[in-house]
Amino acid sequence: MTIALPPLPYPEHALAPHISARTLSFHYGRHHAGYVARLAKLTAGTDYEGLTPGEIAASAPPGTLFDNAAQAWNHDFYWHSMSPDGGGDPGGALATALDRDFGSADAFRAELTAAACSKFGSGWVWLVKDGSGLRIDSTDNADTPLAHGLTPLLTIDVWEHAYYLDYQNDRAAYVDAFVEHLIDWEAAAGRFAD
Ligand SMILES: [Fe+2]
Repeated sequence: MTIALPPLPYPEHALAPHISARTLSFHYGRHHAGYVARLAKLTAGTDYEGLTPGEIAASAPPGTLFDNAAQAWNHDFYWHSMSPDGGGDPGGALATALDRDFGSADAFRAELTAAACSKFGSGWVWLVKDGSGLRIDSTDNADTPLAHGLTPLLTIDVWEHAYYLDYQNDRAAYVDAFVEHLIDWEAAAGRFAD
């Protein structure tokens, strides 16, 4: 069975105090699980049965099927964009590329923070590989770089359900915690090298 809720890569309490177990329990256990359950229902008995959420998100036309596939994939990618040992500075070839395309890791962090704080409404902010260069991308609602031929390296979920229990309307505090303490640079570097 291809459409199933993938396990969280860490326990629900592992990102505290930056993201609480309560947020993870709702965000993963209700929101992410809900997208996966709806996707399983929508694909049963169709040509999409047997494809992964990422494959469906890259190929389905706009609509409910795309929205649920993209949200299933985006959330799994978001969990794998963070680590309990995250934050700090990127290394290796990714660090060199960030210096080249943003000026410095600090300049990248500032640009990511600005994009995530100013994103209007629900959506996602990404670091993507676009050809040989890196840039920040932002997508509305369920939309995903997979549907636009881009290679995502990391993402932050800026839907209110990602931070409201912990930070209420203070999105900037959530974004700051993500940027300073949670980014899994090792995972992003691995995707960059692929
Ligand atoms: Fe979310």
